[in-house]
Amino acid sequence: MALTTALTRRLGIRHPVISAPMHLVAGGALASAVSAAGGLGLIGGGYGDASWLDQQFDIAAGQRIGVGFITWSLRKSPPLLTDALKRRPVAVMLSFGDPRPFVDEIRAAGALLICQCQNIDHVWDAIDVKADIIVAQGAEAGGHGALRGTLSFVPEAADLIAAHAPDAILVAAGGIADGRGLAAALALGAEGALVGTRFWASAEALVHRRHHEAAIAASGDETIRTTVVDIARQIPWPRGFTARVCRNAFTQRWHGREDELERAAAVEGPRYRQAFTAGDPDNTGVWFGEAAGIIRSIEPAAAIVETMAQQAEAALKRIAS
Ligand SMILES: Cc1cc2nc3c(=O)[nH]c(=O)nc-3n(C[C@H](O)[C@H](O)[C@H](O)COP(=O)(O)O)c2cc1C
Repeated sequence: MALTTALTRRLGIRHPVISAPMHLVAGGALASAVSAAGGLGLIGGGYGDASWLDQQFDIAAGQRIGVGFITWSLRKSPPLLTDALKRRPVAVMLSFGDPRPFVDEIRAAGALLICQCQNIDHVWDAIDVKADIIVAQGAEAGGHGALRGTLSFVPEAADLIAAHAPDAILVAAGGIADGRGLAAALALGAEGALVGTRFWASAEALVHRRHHEAAIAASGDETIRTTVVDIARQIPWPRGFTARVCRNAFTQRWHGREDELERAAAVEGPRYRQAFTAGDPDNTGVWFGEAAGIIRSIEPAAAIVETMAQQAEAALKRIAS
């Protein structure tokens, strides 16, 4: 039994696994390793650093990869998309905001449009713009997201898409880090998984060693959804989105004292950034999701893709028998 799904057919890949476009974490090395292993790797365009993005596309040259952007931020610098499309990505993922301003340009360049959604209103938006791939992201996810749990959000999105956009392909995200999660995503009606935290904990991810160590030591209980990482960094996220990060001294100190942090951001922001660069696991945001609880080692991305696909196949066989 091979895990051939509508997603593998549409993308021309072997395994129904997409690596998430994690800001400054998912560079060209990670994206190309995932694609080379039979998944689809996405470079994390994030808030948009044109020269970083250019460098990462160079690193991934020759590999079929895609790119993702934080939509509300892209509105401030649309040329980033124009430049990225010149690199002929297979797909562009938009998340966290209205995709409409960018849809025509993405289609005209021949790239597939992936819309990541955090609630049913977002799924309607993705249906409305005729997204090729719709990602239903549950709140277990590392990084930014919202409130819905993966287990009920994915099948609800699946029903909506089957009724109103049968050509769109549904992908699940949030808490998927091994073959059990991938098998569950398929059972819920998705055609594959978009995986962040597990690839954040890979050899190719641009993550400080001490942050990796913190994730390996953490249980899934040791994360929190919060806005304090964005307040400290003075990044104006729209209401409704929070970030899931490691629960540590920094979040313990500021979560619940957001107004105070806002007033102290001129001092706390540089402290946060300095600690982040130094790999301090206590006094900055350490960005991983609940799936950290099932991650025990840092592995090459190719091994993660292959193991996940094999384990999912085995899990589905076991259930079927
Ligand atoms: C470190 C990190 C950074 C992320 N950055 C982005 C981002 O820049 N853009 C985006 O669309 N999603 C981002 N995400 C969310 C992912 O797209 C994805 O939804 C999530 O990682 C899936 O859940 P998981 O972490 O449990 O696999 C990020 C996730 C992590 C863990």
